[in-house]
Amino acid sequence: SPQQQQKQKGLVDLMAEASTYYQKQLKLNTAAVEYMKNRGLSGEIAQAYGVGYSKKSWDAAIKHLSSRYRQEQIVESGIAIAKDEGGSYDRYRDRIMFPIRNRKGQVIGFGGRVMGDDTPKYINSPETPLFHKSNELYGLYEARQATRKLERIIVVEGYMDVISLAQFGITYGVATLGTATTQQHIEILYRTVPEIIFCFDGDRAGKEAAWRALDNTLPVLRDDKAIHFMFLPDGEDPDSLVRSIGKEAFEESFSSATPLSAYFIEALSAKFNITQNEGKAQFLNEASTLLKKVPESQLKDLILQDIAKLTGVDRKSILKGKQDVAEQET
Ligand code: UTP
Ligand code: MN
Ligand code: MN
Ligand code: MN
Ligand code: MN
Repeated sequence: SPQQQQKQKGLVDLMAEASTYYQKQLKLNTAAVEYMKNRGLSGEIAQAYGVGYSKKSWDAAIKHLSSRYRQEQIVESGIAIAKDEGGSYDRYRDRIMFPIRNRKGQVIGFGGRVMGDDTPKYINSPETPLFHKSNELYGLYEARQATRKLERIIVVEGYMDVISLAQFGITYGVATLGTATTQQHIEILYRTVPEIIFCFDGDRAGKEAAWRALDNTLPVLRDDKAIHFMFLPDGEDPDSLVRSIGKEAFEESFSSATPLSAYFIEALSAKFNITQNEGKAQFLNEASTLLKKVPESQLKDLILQDIAKLTGVDRKSILKGKQDVAEQET
């Protein structure tokens, strides 16, 4: 409705104003500038990603915005949090601020990182009328700005990974925002590039994120797109790795990234002891549950073929799980 559009427009203006404000604060705060430098980030890259700083104050951002915006709007934008007893306070305090932009380049949310060891390390934008984390990718706007025709996108976990890669000239990193990779994320990326490389942290959480990404990708697998997984050494993330090996070696390691189909089989077969019939049965059971999510495609057939080879079970029998039998009976 026109009313809703008006409201969205108001929020877009507010977020732009907030972002400009945080950027100015960064330049005024020596500790924040120092933090960026210590992380190896140049002023140029901070500028390109609109990085800012939120003051150590309960109401600095609110005060700045309240000359032009109502308190309810500031709360609705996520910049402020309403108090039960009335009034509101700044959500982000004493944090490095990463503006999240939509495909038009409008700021729709923020991520804020502490400069020390406090928790939580990051505060992410809440869901707002502008910001829906399951269909936004941090860095996608900037990636599209940097390259006219992108050939691939690398999906990483964090803001710092995206920016650090860009600092080293790898300007096609995007991050999901404190959430798992969703089908919507994949579909957005499909519209942009033929190849997606998932590159999560080389720790337990990163491995779990990779498996979740695979699971969520299965229902939208397509033969005209390629999906790869790059696994980092334990303790590394894309930020630390590009810093230690540089752009060229980082990009060279894409060629040894694991294709989705291989990762699917490797990860599943590692989970079970397929040298025994019991383990093999469990493996087949889980593989077939997962493969049922995959639309008919060449890739699905090829995975089935590999599983048949690995287990000695006829291709056509693999998808005949318990569920099919139950369905036939009713
Ligand atoms: P990490 O803990 O791996 O942080 O979280 P990072 O991105 O490497 O950040 P640095 O290098 O320590 O600065 C990965 C991502 O998970 C989300 C953020 O999106 C973060 O970038 N996260 C992490 C949160 O949302 N909240 C947290 O408290 C921590
Ligand atoms: Mn919406
Ligand atoms: Mn991590
Ligand atoms: Mn990390
Ligand atoms: Mn990191």
